Amino acid sequence: MSVIRIRGLHCLEGEIRIQGSKNAVLPLMAASLLHRGTVVLKNVPGIQDVNCMKGILEYLGCVCEWNAHTLRISTEGLNTAVIPEAEAGRMRSSVMLLGPLLGRLGEAVSHHPGGCSIGRRPIDLHLSALRKLGAEIRVEGDRITASAEGLRGSEILFPFPSVGATENAVMAAVAARGITVLRGASVEPEIEVLCRFLKKMGARIDGIGSSTLMIEGGQPLHDVTFAVPGDRIVAGTYAGAVLAAGGDVLLREAPADHMGAVLHAMNRMGGRTELLPEGIRVRMDGRPGAVCLATEAYPGFPTDLQSVIVAVAALADGESRIRETVFEARFASAKELQKLGAHIIIEDRTVRVDGTYPLTGGSVRAADLRGGAALVVAGLAARGTTVLTGCEHIRRGYEDICRDLCSVGADMEYGTVAT
Ligand code: UD1
Repeated sequence: MSVIRIRGLHCLEGEIRIQGSKNAVLPLMAASLLHRGTVVLKNVPGIQDVNCMKGILEYLGCVCEWNAHTLRISTEGLNTAVIPEAEAGRMRSSVMLLGPLLGRLGEAVSHHPGGCSIGRRPIDLHLSALRKLGAEIRVEGDRITASAEGLRGSEILFPFPSVGATENAVMAAVAARGITVLRGASVEPEIEVLCRFLKKMGARIDGIGSSTLMIEGGQPLHDVTFAVPGDRIVAGTYAGAVLAAGGDVLLREAPADHMGAVLHAMNRMGGRTELLPEGIRVRMDGRPGAVCLATEAYPGFPTDLQSVIVAVAALADGESRIRETVFEARFASAKELQKLGAHIIIEDRTVRVDGTYPLTGGSVRAADLRGGAALVVAGLAARGTTVLTGCEHIRRGYEDICRDLCSVGADMEYGTVAT
């Protein structure tokens, strides 16, 4: 069984180049299906989820060439609308293919998507938006069968913002005849990235960056080359690592514009963050301070960094309260932190953390992607050795967390243990 071994209490100094964004690149890969031609994506992160999405695109008949951080997708050969159950189950983002497949082929067959176990993850908003655009959708057990004799523009009101459902609706609307207006859309930065990508391909989209998007569908699309921005969640994870371990690190290419709430929280905890043309410099002397915050949709504090902030709070001076408002069961890593000596009480959707420093190394298990990264952050501030299993979750979204953190002075490595 593969593990990450971390020997804690080493200060971090130097710089880390932040990889391209997972949550931006996956919808771009899905959206490439809308076009019959070639899409070239630059700054693509070398992560398992990209590999998985590439596998699905290849299964559907696309040709993908992935060299270093450039991914070339040729979609001429798209020849089936059926996503195999095993592939769909492997990643949440497989649901994002429904809109583009309906748009390009008029049909899509998939299964309820997989992804991290962080609570109930329904897809009703995705399906109702696609139905509004004229798709007929049958759901039998886990199987989803969708068809449309030409999608038609429509007005869609989201009862609350969903990142994935907004992305699916935008992609389907680009292929639909006529005007679509999306109200109550999510304003997460990754949606802006998707819209800019589609516009560069020839789509007509107004209102980018706002919760009302207007799309004039049915425009001819053309080949495009597009660079994926830096990953704000990876940058936030490494900023959390600096708060936990102490030090002075430049996060090169971190997307500071989209990290306001995260940097604000880290400054409140005693970190010093400085915005530079080349990225974000994060400094921390001594022990972090406590914080009270709630996760929210963008521009609030992202749910994807809740587990990291709980890990930092676990060693802070004072009592923190962190409330999760987006996903109901996202505290798996908080329970593991208790094994490292953290004083954490979980009350429904809130954790109360009475900081203690340092933590104590021990054996912990990652149950999801961001929770796994949070346990690495905690291990950096633990005396002795922390052994983390379940590292395959981390590889879904972090190119090489050991490489990155070792490059600034962490003492950690991949290894194996007998099962
Ligand atoms: C995306 C991100 C994920 C992040 C999340 C919230 C990607 C690949 N994933 O996930 O990393 O944690 O945004 O910022 O970009 N909901 C419904 N019905 C639906 C869809 C969602 O009720 O049809 C609910 C969810 O249960 C959740 C909330 O809406 O409570 C937000 O989910 P959503 O924004 O859709 O998250 P994802 O797009 O799955």
